[in-house]
Amino acid sequence: MPRLRWSGERCRLAWGESDVAAQTSTSPVESQLISFSVNGHSVDVSVSGTCRLSRVLREDLGLTGTKVGCDAGDCGACTVLLNGEPVCACLVAAGQVAGCEVTSVEGLASRSPIHNRLQTSFLVHGAAQCGACTPGMLVSATALLERNSSPSEQEVMDAIGGVLCRCTGYRKIIRAIQEVNATSQQLSPQAGAAVGARLIRLDGQKKVDGTEIFGADETPAAVLTVRVVRCPYHRARFRFGDLDKFVAAHRGIGMVLTAQDVPGIDCYGVIPRFADQPVFAHDEARYRGEAVAAIVGQTEVVEALDLREFPVTWDELPAIQTIDQALAADADQIHPERPANILVQGRVVCGNVDQALHESDAVVEAEYETGFLEHAYIEPEAGFARRVGDSIEIQACTQSPYMDRADIAKILGIAPEKVRIIPTAVGGGFGSKLDLSVQPFIALTAWKLKCAVRMVYSRTESIMSTTKRHPARMKLRAGANRDGKLTALDFSADFNTGTYSSWGPTVAGRVPVHASGPYCVPNYRALTRAVHTNIVPAGAFRGFGVPQAAIAQEQLYDDLAAKIGMDPLEFRILNALDNHSPTVTGQVLGEGVGIRACLEALRPQWRLARAQTAEFNPHARTPLRRGVGVAGMWYGCGNTSLPNPSTVRIGLKRDGRIALHQGAVDIGQGSNTIVTQICADAMGASISRFDLVSADTSITPDCGKTSASRQTFVTGKAAHMAGRKLRDEILKLAGACQCAAVEFGNGFVTVFEDGVRKALDLSSIPLDQHGYVITSEATFDPPITPLDENGQGNPYAVYGFGAHLAEVEVDVELGTVRVLKVTAAHDVGRAINPTLIEGQIEGGVAQGLGMALMEEFFPGKGENLHDYLIPSVGDIPPIESILIEDPSSIGPFGAKGIGEQAVIPTAPAILNAIHDAVGVRIQKTPATPDRVRAAILAKARGGARG
Ligand code: FES
Ligand code: FES
Repeated sequence: MPRLRWSGERCRLAWGESDVAAQTSTSPVESQLISFSVNGHSVDVSVSGTCRLSRVLREDLGLTGTKVGCDAGDCGACTVLLNGEPVCACLVAAGQVAGCEVTSVEGLASRSPIHNRLQTSFLVHGAAQCGACTPGMLVSATALLERNSSPSEQEVMDAIGGVLCRCTGYRKIIRAIQEVNATSQQLSPQAGAAVGARLIRLDGQKKVDGTEIFGADETPAAVLTVRVVRCPYHRARFRFGDLDKFVAAHRGIGMVLTAQDVPGIDCYGVIPRFADQPVFAHDEARYRGEAVAAIVGQTEVVEALDLREFPVTWDELPAIQTIDQALAADADQIHPERPANILVQGRVVCGNVDQALHESDAVVEAEYETGFLEHAYIEPEAGFARRVGDSIEIQACTQSPYMDRADIAKILGIAPEKVRIIPTAVGGGFGSKLDLSVQPFIALTAWKLKCAVRMVYSRTESIMSTTKRHPARMKLRAGANRDGKLTALDFSADFNTGTYSSWGPTVAGRVPVHASGPYCVPNYRALTRAVHTNIVPAGAFRGFGVPQAAIAQEQLYDDLAAKIGMDPLEFRILNALDNHSPTVTGQVLGEGVGIRACLEALRPQWRLARAQTAEFNPHARTPLRRGVGVAGMWYGCGNTSLPNPSTVRIGLKRDGRIALHQGAVDIGQGSNTIVTQICADAMGASISRFDLVSADTSITPDCGKTSASRQTFVTGKAAHMAGRKLRDEILKLAGACQCAAVEFGNGFVTVFEDGVRKALDLSSIPLDQHGYVITSEATFDPPITPLDENGQGNPYAVYGFGAHLAEVEVDVELGTVRVLKVTAAHDVGRAINPTLIEGQIEGGVAQGLGMALMEEFFPGKGENLHDYLIPSVGDIPPIESILIEDPSSIGPFGAKGIGEQAVIPTAPAILNAIHDAVGVRIQKTPATPDRVRAAILAKARGGARG
């Protein structure tokens, strides 16, 4: 019998599980029996002949190793072999495979001996990060290697050219494929030698054998599906028609939810003080893509719905899309409590900028603009929720389980302890999966219906409704003296933060701290504003606004170096921060300021590349001109002047194994592995002894969000402290001193002191409340101070530093730019796992290249991966990573963060290289061919900026 669970006519029925099972046999689409072979087994499926093969594999046959990133042939994540040839399974109709042989990633191992070697090679080379593209890469590579066991780099690039990867920068994938026959399995390092080892990622095997569970990969029994109705206009008032009639008219639709159905507080946001986003809009939708209602029911019925039939009437309203429109005196106020549409302002001021500029020997000024950027991770948002008694469980992709827990509790009106967040593997996040996406919709509907509810965003829905990188409009002036010393920087920037606050306050606050670059600037003024518009919220995207600021500041410093006749690299080296120079917030770091070392590490390649360019350009008979550019960066690890704790728990088990409860979500960057490496060496235990208990709010303590390059530093430090504490407990039990050695065995621990050996039998020690022989827990919160009204203080405990050198070739007739090589030097404090760090650097370079040359999101247009272009393998040049280790005494074993840092200097280095090649500045990025060509033509007419 249907069970009505809450008042409201629209809840026509809420099924019990058996009811649902009966209902789901009803399909609105005609099925046919299709027989084919999958991974060597004959299968018969009863589906529509037009059903996508990817869907049949995943939903009907449970082969979720085949990923779906776009359903449009753009990403290649769904690549399978069809009669031995790679195809996009999302573009193949089920009816086309009758009688054919299909091989998915799960079947590669039995198909070809190459595959095992290829899996190993991917692991050893760090070619899988989040793993969302990995099945498509492996399938494409297998097809290549089956016909060519020793492919050239170009042949590899051709073979994987249709598969997009947003994490790795492709170079490690190319090497993994080329070196498939030369790679052997790595051994686990000895106890005490994990830090610094090129350990393969501990969660890697599942990524290469297709068994990793991402948000869309698990479907509970009797699950219903939710689909969200979103506003098609940038701004519109709306009225619903007869929703009860709509539900009644659609067999298989269970209910429709709107704003009035939110039982708790209909307002959420990543920064509680600025929370302003409703789950569903009330009467007026304020951006294109804003949710107004959710429809839940049987999967086939919900998916087949034509949403144009949904009873809602829209009245389009004038929308504010640009910063100028938002700041106009007569502009509508998007949030009445935020005058002039300004969400928040940031400010860092030191010295006397105006006087210093007035007295400088040389002054330059410029204006730069950057556009919206889409994160374009390969895994669209997905997950499911189920109600368990008076609690709710949510299994979905996320970067911030505890923040999700707090917001969902608020929305449902229940205690946070009644919400369990179980993060799935995350197929790339880069900041956007810090914000809620599917979670409120699946939580609300599962809560109301008391059954499991699932949601998988389409690519269009993902791009339309999730956060973007803030567009920036920046104005700046800088001065220097004849000796090359920077005297002052005056920087101001407005960021289009969209309709809701998301991470706008963080961007507006972080940028003024960083806009000086990693240089000594004695007189400084940086003012920022986050400005509301009727655009999808802009949020966190690798760097929180610092990459935009670096584009402006690093180009301006090149102009300044030119004006005083200095080499751009030497200008940076001369002005680089050191351990004793104050930053623009007055912070004296005292140690670990590795920017000069990074810049100096680039010198040999800089000189070589400059010499080669000087040789090439005068003799070029083609329209090609080469250039070399450099840019530096710094980036504070963790929150800006805010508490930022991580807590790690470790349990020693009776069998001598060690449970590491760490709640840091690994989104591909490798925190599962790096935190374990740190903990292992802190304890003196072998990595092979560890059982990793990954993020789950019911069993792992809060390790904060995965963002701001904080997990290696903050969670790693907590793991280090917890590891030391556990070791100390063991020594105490053994009555030994701190200097004693500890050896972990199966069922016992041995302590060695002054030649005396003492074994602790773990089976004889009573278990504690956590079920362990010994439990230790530690919390680390980096030491920071608040910033005063001039932004003075110690906003971060530790900074990462880096510098990139880009070599480019510009076609002056076409305006196209090809990056020939990037050399990237990064001070990481201590390279806990060099392979994973290189992976972060190469991935950052690829995203920076996209930012410089091709990526721009136009709200309302191109909400797919064929219009929104991200770099493919053919766009990525060789990348040389140089790791500098200038340790921080605060970080674990001296380590600092690297994730955000890696993307920051690439774009300005490329833009400086373009200027070096053809003498033009591209004022609005990306430097697309039309903009570059226009700038070249303008220069020919007498200007030099485009
Ligand atoms: S899912 Fe098939 S190409 Fe993207
Ligand atoms: S590893 Fe390729 S998309 Fe994440």
